[in-house]
Amino acid sequence: MTNPLEYRDIIDAGRYPIDRTHDPRRQAVVDQVRAELADDGCAVLRGFFSPAGLAALTAEAESRKAQAYYSPRSLCNVYLNDGDPAYPEDHPINRFMPRSNGFVTADLFDAETTARRLYYWDPLKSFLADCLGKPELYIYEDPVSNMIVNVGAPGQQFNWHFDTNEFTITMLLRPAETGGHFEYVPNLRSTDDECYAEVGQVLDGDRSRVRRLELDAGDLQFFLGRFSLHQVTANTGATDRLLLIMSFAEQPGMIGSRERVQNLYGKITDAHLQRRVRADGLVD
Ligand SMILES: [Fe+2]
Repeated sequence: MTNPLEYRDIIDAGRYPIDRTHDPRRQAVVDQVRAELADDGCAVLRGFFSPAGLAALTAEAESRKAQAYYSPRSLCNVYLNDGDPAYPEDHPINRFMPRSNGFVTADLFDAETTARRLYYWDPLKSFLADCLGKPELYIYEDPVSNMIVNVGAPGQQFNWHFDTNEFTITMLLRPAETGGHFEYVPNLRSTDDECYAEVGQVLDGDRSRVRRLELDAGDLQFFLGRFSLHQVTANTGATDRLLLIMSFAEQPGMIGSRERVQNLYGKITDAHLQRRVRADGLVD
């Protein structure tokens, strides 16, 4: 076995000195991300990894992707729920579209992997919190889904939807050869308005507000997906698209619900069986 990479050698530390809190280059990156997020809910750090770091992360994903879990549920609406018979059939809430992709779950990455070591590296967490304007981020304690690789095989796509989470942090390890594009409509809905008519227009094919982001291997993306409708278009190439997803929480001790984790990842652990309902009383 080869020696693990030093933390600073996994990322392009010259461009992104994330563990040097007084380095003005770090602050400049943080300022840039905050400005982009405020503008349209999306920000990208190009070439975040070093060539060696990217190679190690990609090899880890590649060697585990045969174990990816593909959820049997293949049609989803933009709200990722069951729809509502109180609304007409052509209402956005009742329009179901193909969704297909797989996940290599967190439990398949042991503590020595580059991905896991990076995920637990405190300077990364602090840097991401600064970029998102959060006082602190915590490791998401879900043992199945806290750090996963999304596999988009040829022909697969993830249609238009809103996220449940306020923010996501993804790192593209390998783009599709063709297709597999990330597209989004910034701030399509707000906390007090679902904007159903505008959602329906996008589902009908209106591209006037759609933005397409060109992402390369090694790019880190911040995305505020709760208000911006987004999709990954069909992978029309011959190889898998591989995306590393790291989840963080704003409170300690958070894990996913038994039903959601079982449905998306095909397995649960004792931690899910013992999980208590959140203090706020919401289902999830
Ligand atoms: Fe999403």
